[in-house]
Amino acid sequence: MSVRYIESKKTFLLQTKSSTYQMKISDYGYLLHLYYGERLEDEDLSYLIQLQDRGFSPNPYEAGNDRTFSLDFLPQEFSSDGSSDYRLSSIEIKNGDGSYAFVGKVAKHQIYSGKYHLAGLPSLWTTEKDTADTLEIWLTDAVTQLTVVLCYCVLEEKDIITRSVRVINQSEDTIYLNRIMSMTMDFMDSDYDFIHFDGRHTMEREWSRNPLAYGIQTVGSFRGASSHQHNPFAILCESAANEDYGRCYGFSFVYSGNFMCKVEKDQYDQTRIVMGIHPKHFSWQMKPGESFTAPEVVLAYSGQGLTHLTHLYHNVYRENLCKSPYAKKERPILINSWEAAYFDFDEEKLLKIAGDAVDMGVELFVLDDGWFGNRNNDNAALGDWDVNTAKLPRGLKGLSDEIHAMGLKFGIWIEPEMVSEDSKLYRKHPDWCLQMPRRQPSRGRYQLVLDLSREDVRDYIVTSINGVLGSARIEYVKWDMNRFITDAWSAIAEKEKQGEIYHRYILGLYDIMNRIILTHPEVLFCGCSGGGGRFDPGMLYYQPQIWCSDNTDAVCRLKIQYGTTFVYPVSAMESHVSVCPNHQTGRTVPIKTRGVTAMDGILGYELDSTKMTQEEKQICREQIQSYKKDYALIAEGDYFRLTNPYTFMEYVAWEHVSRDQKEALISLVIMEKEANDAQRCVKAKGLNPGMYYQVEEMEGHFSGQVLMSAGLPVPNGLLQYEAIQYHIRAI
Ligand code: GLA
Repeated sequence: MSVRYIESKKTFLLQTKSSTYQMKISDYGYLLHLYYGERLEDEDLSYLIQLQDRGFSPNPYEAGNDRTFSLDFLPQEFSSDGSSDYRLSSIEIKNGDGSYAFVGKVAKHQIYSGKYHLAGLPSLWTTEKDTADTLEIWLTDAVTQLTVVLCYCVLEEKDIITRSVRVINQSEDTIYLNRIMSMTMDFMDSDYDFIHFDGRHTMEREWSRNPLAYGIQTVGSFRGASSHQHNPFAILCESAANEDYGRCYGFSFVYSGNFMCKVEKDQYDQTRIVMGIHPKHFSWQMKPGESFTAPEVVLAYSGQGLTHLTHLYHNVYRENLCKSPYAKKERPILINSWEAAYFDFDEEKLLKIAGDAVDMGVELFVLDDGWFGNRNNDNAALGDWDVNTAKLPRGLKGLSDEIHAMGLKFGIWIEPEMVSEDSKLYRKHPDWCLQMPRRQPSRGRYQLVLDLSREDVRDYIVTSINGVLGSARIEYVKWDMNRFITDAWSAIAEKEKQGEIYHRYILGLYDIMNRIILTHPEVLFCGCSGGGGRFDPGMLYYQPQIWCSDNTDAVCRLKIQYGTTFVYPVSAMESHVSVCPNHQTGRTVPIKTRGVTAMDGILGYELDSTKMTQEEKQICREQIQSYKKDYALIAEGDYFRLTNPYTFMEYVAWEHVSRDQKEALISLVIMEKEANDAQRCVKAKGLNPGMYYQVEEMEGHFSGQVLMSAGLPVPNGLLQYEAIQYHIRAI
């Protein structure tokens, strides 16, 4: 078993293939954290707990005159609140008597094989190939009887530990849960860098790395979605860590709504990191006997730098996260109508775009926004999921049939969570959107957010979208969400339950995705929220790919994709070649480079194919052929970031290596170009040093060792924004 309780030492031991996690029940029944890091064989690490009398760090009453025991400095698995720990708390409870306190002590534990289940929430699942064991530890407050169950699942071979928390109100009072962190982790040192991924609409997941400083650093979202601004993923790594060296810890939150990740460097140079639902405007009413389940955090530890950490996440997210059968299937090359036509199209125009795309080797035509209701701009019709017959007189079916007759698959765009004020739906059910009494709601892109906490609203969405999917042959759906939540107030919830709306929205979203997406396994769903505003593992549970960003500029995409790859696999990033000058930045980049960049993901096109030159079409045809040939390598291979675009400006390079190390693909884009500049060599990674390889773009054969140590010359003749790929195959 990968989970054990050692009675004599009162320690819990979790073992993955290469990591060890240890905890201990302390003298007074508190659960202390001992260690998470490189795998150790059956060592008892209790000695790490060194007690001492520290001024102004209070002692629990039961410690009597022992002034050396204080929760204010001891490393814990789940911190108490309202008691003697002044650091970040894992929980905040308003008890029936009005007090704010939770002091949990170990009441019991349970170990079983298999993984715990989180009702209503996406989480990692296990296959028969996985060895998975679960540990549940009950922490009970002796006064209120409120219980917190800490859940740990060890995926031994995957080198992954998942955590979640269940709160059970065993008290006799109605209580309010105002904060619940899914994961709390203490480190007895603080020489770490905090890496997180931040940004904005059209510039998501920008890499950010800073040493910990005294005090608290926070990333998070209270926008109702995981957001463009911060991603629910963070890394703590030793300061010297780089791609190939050093201790690195990853924390990935399987949730699509408000989240918070806080890290504190305390007065004793220790570190605490917490991750969970953002407590802002969160207050969950719990009547006696009720329980609350917090979403899952996926932990990974790498002792060999950031690349290995990435591989652990890519591996588990490719195999144990997405429920769609498409997760493991080759995705079709698509062309999307958005940047080609925006709202201005009719059937004839679409068919022309599709016709020219077929000729390039495209396999799927996606009709983006504008096909329903009176949707001729973004001011109207969200909620009215019937076809706009002025644009498509023969309906979706007529268009889909024509598209299929060309040999293409057919897909559509939807935005089911929203309503426009100018819509039949809003006129009929104005109370179906989130809005506060006596206030006008804030608009975002002219639209309002439907109240997914309501069952009647969810039923409407499920019926109407399932109706659309049944009305024509539709093999792909882009599921969008184009504004964040404000005015989180539901017309049917009691006033004591209005603090539940953000989370109930997400539970409602997961419910409708269960009822729409998981009942259509034949349809490939792509997530989207103005690009990557909801790029998180919660969405990837339902949708194998997500539109990475509304920014299709290849140069910006290099940074966006760089950040995204730290945790999310290449097979999750939908990436398109678009027209130049680029619609977002005005930049012009060669079409080859646009293709090379988009191939670092699920390749697609988003331009008016009827306006392309023959030469451009030929380049795209070749791109598609080459991508399809290398699909398995790109989508399933190991990923290596060869440069960091934030610290090295000359070029950006990355590499895919097949699991058997027989094939690799290095892609490189020139960034800042100077005249008569230095000769550079890009060094491969992940090859077999003893194997010999042929590089398609060069003469001769090279050992893996040579390619990794001496590297491949970057041609000096390449100009700014030009790209090159090296196809490396074992001989
Ligand atoms: C969002 C998406 C775009 C496009 C538009 C349509 O912004 O990210 O790709 O689908 O909506 O309105």
